[in-house]
Amino acid sequence: MALFSILTLFPDAVESYLDVGVLGIARQRGIVDVQVVDFRDFTRDRHRTVDDRPFGGGPGMVLKPEPIVEAVEWIEARHGAHRRIALTPDGVPFGQPLAESMARDLDERPVLLLCGRYEGFDERALALLEFERLSIGDYVLAGGELPALVTLETVARLLPGTLGDARSAAEDSFGASAAGGLDHPHFTRPRVFRGEEVPEVLLSGDHGRIEAWRKKESERRTARVRPDLAQDDTNTLPGTTPEGG
Ligand SMILES: C[S@@+](CC[C@H](N)C(=O)[O-])C[C@H]1O[C@@H](n2cnc3c(N)ncnc32)[C@H](O)[C@@H]1O
Repeated sequence: MALFSILTLFPDAVESYLDVGVLGIARQRGIVDVQVVDFRDFTRDRHRTVDDRPFGGGPGMVLKPEPIVEAVEWIEARHGAHRRIALTPDGVPFGQPLAESMARDLDERPVLLLCGRYEGFDERALALLEFERLSIGDYVLAGGELPALVTLETVARLLPGTLGDARSAAEDSFGASAAGGLDHPHFTRPRVFRGEEVPEVLLSGDHGRIEAWRKKESERRTARVRPDLAQDDTNTLPGTTPEGG
């Protein structure tokens, strides 16, 4: 079973999401186990202090290194060495290729996700424990809990057995069937909605034509909305040439 350890000051916020949808299913099926640890439990003073003013002055508070390092040591003494990941806006950008590498890596070691708050971490905690730094986008949230859940859910749905149909992840945006590009449009009943008809090809029953149409629409959408993906060879499988759109 793949183990994720999440270090946070707001365990309730993280736990409230773990039973929902795909993550809940992955946990019920014994594919994923998540332990949530409050690193405030590793403080030693009466006030359970996790933060302090920044050296050099300036606004905000900085997360102290001691509770973080001791919490990681406590987790790893029980569950072995983890791949240690700190969620931080100054990290490497998260994306599907990185999620896929994390999913593969989970066979060898669990993943630890460290959630920050305030101004972020005392740099020494991350350096001492050789944390990787991961950002979920070029914007700043108030805490690392949502980024940790984004990471967890993205990786969990790639693990064999989580999704009902193993093709789903490959056929999603950024997946292998979409050649690393965006998904094609989807339609369901009714056939006509407020005068708008479902594309005729999808009703034809001709699987070859349907596949060709979906591939063309996926390439068209990728070229229009995310030309960076269309041009990125690392995201493009051989034999697919995105059209202009
Ligand atoms: C207010 S932010 C700290 C921002 C930090 N001073 C900076 O400018 O990079 C507090 C915490 O939220 C989390 N966080 C906020 N935005 C994030 C993002 N885009 N990706 C990952 N984590 C983020 C991190 O854990 C961070 O330590």
